[in-house]
Amino acid sequence: MSNIELIDRLAADGVLAEEDLEVLLATYTAADRDYAASLAYRIARGRFGTNLHAWGVIDITNNCSKDCFYCGLCRSNEALERYRLSTEEVLACCSEGHRLGIRTFVLQAAEDPDFGDDVADDLIWRVRKGFPDSAIALSFGERSRAAYQRYFDAGADRYLLRHETADADHYAQLHPRRSTLANRIRCLEDLKSIGFETGSGMLVGTPFQTPLRLARDLLFLADFDPALVTVGPFLPASTTKFAEAPAGSVEKTLFVLSLVRIILPNADLPVMTSIATAHPRGREMAVMAGANIVMPNLTPPAERAKYALYDGRVTLGADAADGLEILRRRMDAIGYTLASDRGEHRRRSG
Ligand code: 5AD
Repeated sequence: MSNIELIDRLAADGVLAEEDLEVLLATYTAADRDYAASLAYRIARGRFGTNLHAWGVIDITNNCSKDCFYCGLCRSNEALERYRLSTEEVLACCSEGHRLGIRTFVLQAAEDPDFGDDVADDLIWRVRKGFPDSAIALSFGERSRAAYQRYFDAGADRYLLRHETADADHYAQLHPRRSTLANRIRCLEDLKSIGFETGSGMLVGTPFQTPLRLARDLLFLADFDPALVTVGPFLPASTTKFAEAPAGSVEKTLFVLSLVRIILPNADLPVMTSIATAHPRGREMAVMAGANIVMPNLTPPAERAKYALYDGRVTLGADAADGLEILRRRMDAIGYTLASDRGEHRRRSG
């Protein structure tokens, strides 16, 4: 079967045999990428029209107790200046975002022991109370089921936790021994069963990734059926174990993004900052390959640069208002309008 036929089969069935996906990921050409992108674009355009939802990201703390080998925030990176925003500072970012028309806040935090469950729970409730018309998405990493339940009860709607790689051996090559794929999956199952719109996703181009391992990521997503998926290229972070590793390819990331759109037509697929960092037109290219969400950054400019997951993480504009305006203009130039509602098409359409 040709790769084009494999992509058609994927679109018809929503899944392929592991060995077929592996072949596709090992042998795709530029024409195959174009074909997948054109299908993915049509699917996204059919479901979401020319509205792009803008989710405002607030990076709360870069203190991390984890030591993921690829991540610039890892605990052993002593070169990084650490920070934590106060609850009042986070609420001020939300106010500014809300004033600018943002109706989904993505509260993102590294695994900071001093940003504990009580602080997080209180923050979520205060955002919920202050912005009852807005959705709250969390990205606080691996926590207990009881903590996830508290966050949900306090008013959070969505939770993003990438599985990073669905292959346990690969996971072990990217993380210290105490971090396991099994716990990651436990978290994802807990989040979903609690009722969060749960997001997962993976890095493209990490060291030791193979077409077979990437095929397993796609099969994991097909099976887990997350409400949202984030896919981004691995980008090296200096002062980490993988500082000298080559960056993941933009083309491959976009191809994988298109395949995810084909597998999960209803999922929210945000354009990640990593793709914007890897290519100056990365945002536009991701939208043209099937993405339907953009994520402007609402973090105060002084802290933004310290959320250094990888080198050169770009942000648009001097501040939130400026960044959003640039994003609005750039998306307008490819025929898209930034939408100002919570963006619950998925719940509405079931
Ligand atoms: N390159 C790209 N993405 C990274 N992340 C962490 N380190 C890197 C890197 N070097 C992503 C991980 C994690 C999220 C917080 O940031 O996928 O889930």
